[in-house]
Amino acid sequence: MKAVQVRKARDLVLQEMDKPKISNSTDVLVKVKRVGICGSDMHIYHGTNPLATLPRVVGHEVAGEVEEIGQGVTGIKVGDHVVIEPIKYCGKCYACRKGRQNVCETLSVFGVHEDGGMREWCVLPEKQLHVVDPDLAWDEIVLAEPYTIGAQAVWRGDVEEGDTVLIQGAGPIGVCILKMAKLQGASVMITDLSDERLKFAEECGADITVHAGNEDVRQRVEEWTKGEGANVVIDAVCLPMTFELSFEVVSTAGSIVVLGFDERPASISQLPITKKEVSVKGSRLQTNQFPKVVKLLNEGRLRHEGLVTHTFSLDDVQEAFDFVESHPEQVRKAIIVFN
Ligand SMILES: NC(=O)c1ccc[n+]([C@@H]2O[C@H](COP(=O)([O-])OP(=O)(O)OC[C@H]3O[C@@H](n4cnc5c(N)ncnc54)[C@H](O)[C@@H]3O)[C@@H](O)[C@H]2O)c1
Ligand SMILES: [Zn+2]
Ligand SMILES: [Zn+2]
Repeated sequence: MKAVQVRKARDLVLQEMDKPKISNSTDVLVKVKRVGICGSDMHIYHGTNPLATLPRVVGHEVAGEVEEIGQGVTGIKVGDHVVIEPIKYCGKCYACRKGRQNVCETLSVFGVHEDGGMREWCVLPEKQLHVVDPDLAWDEIVLAEPYTIGAQAVWRGDVEEGDTVLIQGAGPIGVCILKMAKLQGASVMITDLSDERLKFAEECGADITVHAGNEDVRQRVEEWTKGEGANVVIDAVCLPMTFELSFEVVSTAGSIVVLGFDERPASISQLPITKKEVSVKGSRLQTNQFPKVVKLLNEGRLRHEGLVTHTFSLDDVQEAFDFVESHPEQVRKAIIVFN
């Protein structure tokens, strides 16, 4: 079978590999149909993802069809359409015991710490697969994983109906957070530096869009919330400056959710955190969000509405990575299509 492997930085190959086989009774063999290209795949390709070891078959946003099941598989049958939950965890460490398996001590992420889904077939334990309505388009369900990132951020922020939520950044992750926050009944302001991205965010339900380069975000939040500040600020830009801004615009008793991997320090004093009793929360990958997202997809309440802008065949994978790299202003989400 063919697999997309990053051999070393900037060296991507369409590699011939053995088709994987079922080895445990709870294993499922999946014929891959669609894989999304994510910012973190680009980081692995560029050799700048500190968590990934090379060579690596990338891909963690995966949808496929079940081809074979192990004897102990009970909830999945041949022919089912599935999406992959990309985390493996120990189930015993503190995080796992607290229901936070996404930050397990021995976490292994499909396509990062171990070979992922950008290949014609893969084998995974049943518990890492979620069955979706077979009538849904592959291009629709392949977004399940990025939606779970949005769902996790909204869950970490305790977003409730009627809350004011400021999302910084209208990239694919900002848009996934936006969709989930709107489904939660929040009122959402979103910022970006791109008019095109802001326009798309508006189409996806943003109540207010703000160009962070041309407008003063502090002032816009102040006006919008009548001086209260945003109840939840979710940073999907992930720069020290957006992190710092979050503390200025958050309301009393509010929450700040961060998703970034930037190691540069930000300058934050204790005063706003204590005075406003703000909760600052990290949001990494997801835990328990797949069932929620699959339900929303099945009910037709979650649609990409133009989030997928480009598709490439497996044979054109190099072209796909080159295009994503060189046309960030055109690409929202690019998908690799398997036969
Ligand atoms: N924690 C997690 O589980 C997780 C998962 C996926 C992605 N991420 C992170 O989320 C972030 C967003 O991902 P993405 O794929 O949407 O990235 P992206 O680069 O496509 O989007 C970022 C957006 O922020 C905008 N921007 C830049 N500076 C800004 C500013 N000062 N104010 C407002 N907007 C600004 C850019 O124009 C861009 O549209 C990345 O840092 C990524 O590493 C985290
Ligand atoms: Zn991703
Ligand atoms: Zn664990």
